[in-house]
Amino acid sequence: MQIHDTIAGLRTALAGAGRIVFVPTMGNLHEGHIALMRQARAHGDTLVSSLFVNRLQFGPKEDFDTYPRTFEADCEKMAAAGGAHLFAPDEREMYPTPQAYHVQPAATQADILEGEFRPGFFRGVATVVLKLFSIVQPQAALFGKKDYQQLMVIRNMVREFALPIDIIPGETVRAADGLALSSRNGYLSAQERAEAPRLYRVLERIRKDIQAGEPDVARLEQGAMAELRASGWIPQYVAVRKQVDLQLPAAHDSGLVVLGAALLGSTRLIDNLEV
Ligand code: PAJ
Repeated sequence: MQIHDTIAGLRTALAGAGRIVFVPTMGNLHEGHIALMRQARAHGDTLVSSLFVNRLQFGPKEDFDTYPRTFEADCEKMAAAGGAHLFAPDEREMYPTPQAYHVQPAATQADILEGEFRPGFFRGVATVVLKLFSIVQPQAALFGKKDYQQLMVIRNMVREFALPIDIIPGETVRAADGLALSSRNGYLSAQERAEAPRLYRVLERIRKDIQAGEPDVARLEQGAMAELRASGWIPQYVAVRKQVDLQLPAAHDSGLVVLGAALLGSTRLIDNLEV
């Protein structure tokens, strides 16, 4: 696998690379990232990944400085997963001057759920992803359903700007006890790690109750929030929404997704399940 830290170097290396398939990451790779890379190989001739911890998508009180950085191990995992090229720029290469142009997703997508608790997050994500798309010029790119709202924002951005890129979703990879893999799981103490799968379990119960015909989703959401609170969490939202646009469902709508975000100690965990 070739490693590039400049835009010019990557572009030269990718000339004539055929159909490029791209997996952007912020590193500290786990099986969720690796599954996306393995899946990606079927969608192009040349697999390109990126590793860049994007300051623009972190709030002032969030974990930009402490976000786990494990470059050497990440390179080995990407190479083993079939990566042909890794783009790993530093901040001066990505943002030589402070980024003055931004992609601002519609408030109906960017200010709800994650966006309500992480103001500016989707603006930072959409901006860096558009920039990475412009640098790598892939024909296909993969994003995990673990970050469901992110996947939707990117899909809509690609459609609205008519970018010639197929956006391919990857299923969420979980630990045996149900906890969705995340770079932030490393922040959990042993005791918190044992408690963490509760977020998945409360979402799973909501899914089952909806499938069994329970019409009162607000009651299910509140029940899940109460259980998390009673177990020491600080829940931010548990919400049943439509898969297509994450807006509130009408009675008898199908194609739903239940999403949750909660703090366990000082670690913020998110998860979701399609119903
Ligand atoms: P990061 O959190 O590193 O995730 C990179 C990709 O891996 C994303 O598409 C994410 O949805 C996917 N992913 C993470 N955990 C997963 C899991 N357990 N199962 C399946 N896929 C999983 O998401 C980002 O980075 C950034 O916002 C980025 C898109 C790179 C822009 O900076």
